Amino acid sequence: MNAEQPSVLTATATAAKSMQSIVQERYGSSPERVLRLASVPLPAIGRGEVLVRVRAASVDRGTWHLMAGLPYPVRAAGFGLRRPKYANPGRALAGTVEAVGADVAGLAPGDEVYGVGAATFAEYARSRADKLTAKPANLTFAEAATVPISGLTALQAVRDHGQVREGRRVLVIGASGGVGSFAVQVAKAFGAEVTAVCGAGAAKAALVRSLGADEVVDHTAVDPTDGRVRYDVILDTGGNRPLSRLRRALTATGRLVIVGGETDGRWLGGTDRQIRAQLLSPFVGQRLGSFVASENAADLTVLRELVEAGRILPAVDRTFPLAETPAAIRHLLDGRTCGKVAVTV
Ligand SMILES: NC(=O)c1ccc[n+]([C@@H]2O[C@H](COP(=O)([O-])OP(=O)(O)OC[C@H]3O[C@@H](n4cnc5c(N)ncnc54)[C@H](OP(=O)(O)O)[C@@H]3O)[C@@H](O)[C@H]2O)c1
Repeated sequence: MNAEQPSVLTATATAAKSMQSIVQERYGSSPERVLRLASVPLPAIGRGEVLVRVRAASVDRGTWHLMAGLPYPVRAAGFGLRRPKYANPGRALAGTVEAVGADVAGLAPGDEVYGVGAATFAEYARSRADKLTAKPANLTFAEAATVPISGLTALQAVRDHGQVREGRRVLVIGASGGVGSFAVQVAKAFGAEVTAVCGAGAAKAALVRSLGADEVVDHTAVDPTDGRVRYDVILDTGGNRPLSRLRRALTATGRLVIVGGETDGRWLGGTDRQIRAQLLSPFVGQRLGSFVASENAADLTVLRELVEAGRILPAVDRTFPLAETPAAIRHLLDGRTCGKVAVTV
């Protein structure tokens, strides 16, 4: 059998020869200009892949980067040098398995799954089997779809790179955002004392308190890195504070985990700060670093267990229908989001 052809397709999928999908022919920074709804053929799956009937997808900062093709190294990372390689920039998904390719074990048509796929702003999407696992039973599809990218990043930042343990003082910068809203909850689940940094407004403060933060700091009123309080771990997901300021808010042996931060830089996009942190780290007592999140079923399972145990709950700010995906991305770009934005299909 040709590895590019679907090995098992249910009657429903084969009957539906085309599907509704958000499509993008060129890179661009404005979602309203580059994304549109179209009727396209169903994706074909190959060996080790799964066709998912998408019930919901979600938006994160990476969605914008993939749509815009910025910073430029994103394009070289397999997303298309001159034009987008994938039909749309959606990656997180929740849905039901429609069909499985050869060599896929443990997943079967009808299973409710969540994870990471390709071009997930569509009725059907292709995913690698090792990036999917059973959906948390207590979440809606929209809630579940907000977990994979942001939740995996938060889990790995807290557990692996921050090495957060019981009683550690943790500062989460960007706590009202996608990664930050999960990071606050994961750090609390690991027994930390969490100070959450967010922007002005009662809604953002109320959200981060509801996530379990012990202290909330409005970064528009107070500098959370003025050094008056020192933290064992700083998880930085927003604001691009200079390394020197972040370091003065860390204990002598504290850990700085730079998850990301938005800049206008078309070539480096803030990664220069992350590179400088990694270069400096061997010469100082503090551990300064960054990482690229790993998309894997094992950590999706850890997240599912935390969700089903009631330790973490996605904070879904708004849900948009598929046709309004550009508005969903715009909502994130406008900076008003509290938590996550979902797209339902
Ligand atoms: N390393 C990886 O593998 C990885 C994975 C996922 C994401 N990322 C990166 O991590 C970053 C966060 O992603 P996300 O999806 O969570 O984005 P997001 O939902 O937009 O969250 C970022 C948050 O940063 C906060 N912020 C903005 N300016 C700030 C400032 N001056 N000081 C403090 N906080 C500020 C915003 O909240 P307020 O308005 O409340 O301040 C915003 O909610 C992005 O740069 C993304 O590209 C990296």
